[in-house]
Amino acid sequence: YCQLNTLAVRAGKKYFGTATDNPELGDAPYVAQLGNTADFNQITAGNSMKWDATEPSRGTFTFSNGDTVANMARNRGQLLRGHTCVWHSQLPNWVTSGNFDNSTLLSIVQNHCSTLVSHYRGQMYSWDVVNEPFNEDGSFRQSVFFQKTGTAYIATALRAARNADPNTKLYINDFNIEGTGAKSTGMINLVRSLQQQNVPIDGIGVQAHLIVGQIPSSIQQNLQNFANLGVEVAITELDIRMTLPVTQQKLEQQQEDYRTVIRACKAVSRCVGVTVWDWTDRYSWVPGVFNGEGAACPWDENLAKKPAYQGIVDGW
Ligand code: XIL
Repeated sequence: YCQLNTLAVRAGKKYFGTATDNPELGDAPYVAQLGNTADFNQITAGNSMKWDATEPSRGTFTFSNGDTVANMARNRGQLLRGHTCVWHSQLPNWVTSGNFDNSTLLSIVQNHCSTLVSHYRGQMYSWDVVNEPFNEDGSFRQSVFFQKTGTAYIATALRAARNADPNTKLYINDFNIEGTGAKSTGMINLVRSLQQQNVPIDGIGVQAHLIVGQIPSSIQQNLQNFANLGVEVAITELDIRMTLPVTQQKLEQQQEDYRTVIRACKAVSRCVGVTVWDWTDRYSWVPGVFNGEGAACPWDENLAKKPAYQGIVDGW
């Protein structure tokens, strides 16, 4: 009874899940726990459905690594979240350097989203159609898409996704929108304006790449503010990193912090589930990106449960 997905479902949620990535799938003990559906009943491909992986040159689509993850999850009966159609990062050079005009770039976005979402039609619980569109102050990020099309690329991507798979939930996903503030307000304003224009939008994804001891106190209120737009909400990439080295005190704070995040989702009925951005420190992206930080996941690098695991259990 005390496992993460079992408890999430008992709390009325659709899933507790995790990201994974293709290079990890040769690690048998890792793969065994990844398939433990009492803990994880939802999988997100950490890299293999991104633009550089799926359309490395214009009009040439490669889904083999994405399919490996999707097939594994399907065989195990796990839900899938698709990640991601349009993002400023991990773009192939032909997109960033193509210097396309407005209408050409919109047709490229349309074709990419349409082909990607169509390929996985019927397989995805949801898609992060647009990832990280905001700056910290709530203005729009100056991505190649925004520079050439303004916000038009967002509606184009969402409409293409809806047409490609009418039954998957369409999300906009971002980080540093866990608490209330300018960036969360930007998200609310965007979703409201899409709704007013009848652009399909079903959910807001809150990445939740957080820091031990620094969980925003307004997280539950903020999730509720999002939910009050009538969309669903999901915690999509949860990890809670610490400055290394690991100490018992930091592990205990991390346990409390995981509990806080889970409690916030639990309390908001439209929060459908929580995904950790990989479950073990063995494969966390954190040490590679945040200098001197790590140990962000609920299991350690030896695949042993940390106090954070109990924090999630207690949160549900
Ligand atoms: C990360 C992956 O985990 C890394 O392997 C990769 O090198 C960089 O991207 N926000 C997102 C994810 O939406 O796609 C990112 O994933 C982490 C931050």
